[in-house]
Order: sequence, then structure tokens, then C-alpha cells
Amino acid sequence: MSTDSQPRFRVVGSDPAPPGRLLRPIVLVGLMGAGKTAVGRRLAAALGVAFADADEAIVEAAGMSIPDIFEVYGETAFRDLERRVVVRLLDEATGVLALGGGAFIDPQTRAAVGERGISIWLKAELETLVARVTRKRAVRPLLMQGEPRTILAGLMERRYPIYAEADFTVLTGDQPLDEVVDRLTELLQREGLIRDVA
Ligand code: S3P
Repeated sequence: MSTDSQPRFRVVGSDPAPPGRLLRPIVLVGLMGAGKTAVGRRLAAALGVAFADADEAIVEAAGMSIPDIFEVYGETAFRDLERRVVVRLLDEATGVLALGGGAFIDPQTRAAVGERGISIWLKAELETLVARVTRKRAVRPLLMQGEPRTILAGLMERRYPIYAEADFTVLTGDQPLDEVVDRLTELLQREGLIRDVA
């Protein structure tokens, strides 16, 4: 996990969810740059639940960076590890989980999310994604294989029909993070997925 002050993803056991708690893990999916980690972290803080980032957990489990895993072991090995880590995080706790952009594309990972969690696709336009990934391009091996705009456009074409299988879709763009978090909270409340805070 990162060194920030968020609580670790924690086990809540089989007790009924206390006030304000989620009934199932909320799993954020979407392309690189959609804001899964930033939104997820704030959403978890707003709900008073734990937050986990699958990419961070993979780095922790492997003891190496994502670009290094891709370079040394290849993408297939990365996806295998990603699947195991996501299943573990889903089984461990009820909180907010941000997935890496390719995780939900893996059929087994997607099935595990479907069984255990509530998936929300943070859907963004190409321009939004391009603007956001420029900063962290070096830690995203897929974006180092060519021009980020072209790569993201190709990924949108292949992946958007699959992200559309998520339980819910929320559009994100230039709005402040807090606005997205408010929309997600309202959605979860409307759908009866969180209990009202007493
Ligand atoms: C990937 C997205 C990355 C990371 C890896 C592969 C993808 O996560 O898991 O570089 O296949 O889209 P983010 O979406 O958090 O950048």
C-alpha cells in the first residue's frame, strides 16, 4: 500500500454492515486515466470504508514495479498475478477497490468481480484520458509501446464494449473529483448498496 493515511482494506467478516458501510465491495473499472485510483480513494474516505488499489497490491506482492513485471515476465504473467491479487482483495474485505485498466478485461477476473462486488465503470472521453495519462506514462508499460493517443483509442475500441458489462457506468470528464464522488455516493444510496449513516 502507499504511505498515505487511508486505512488498509480490512476484513469485516460476516457481521451485517454497520451504518454507512457498503454491503458489497465497490470495484472501479475503466481505462488508464479514468481516475479510478483518485476517485476510489476519495469515495472510500467519504464512505468511511477502506480503499485498495489493485496495481499497488500487485507491486507489493511481486516486490517489483509494473513496468519491471511486464519486462521480465511478460503481460500474461502480469495478468495471472493481477487475477490472484484481485480475488484476494475481493475476498478480504468490503471497501472500495480500484482495478488496473486491463483487469476487468480478463474473463476470470471479471467473473470474480461479478460474483463478489459491484462494478462501476468510470467512462471517459479520449481527450480526458490523453490529458491525464501524460504525467504517469512511464509507469504504464502499454503506453510506452507507441503514441499514447493512438494506443488509448485502440484500447477504447476493444475494451469499452467489455467495460459496458459493469453493473453501473458513470461518465467522468473535467469536473472536480468531489463531484464524481458525490455522484457515486448518490448512486450507491439510490441502489441500496450503502446503509444510511446514523
Ligand atoms: C493497464 C493499466 C494499468 C496497469 C498496467 C496495465 C492496462 O493500471 O494495471 O499498466 O492494461 O490498462 P491503471 O489503469 O491504473 O493505469
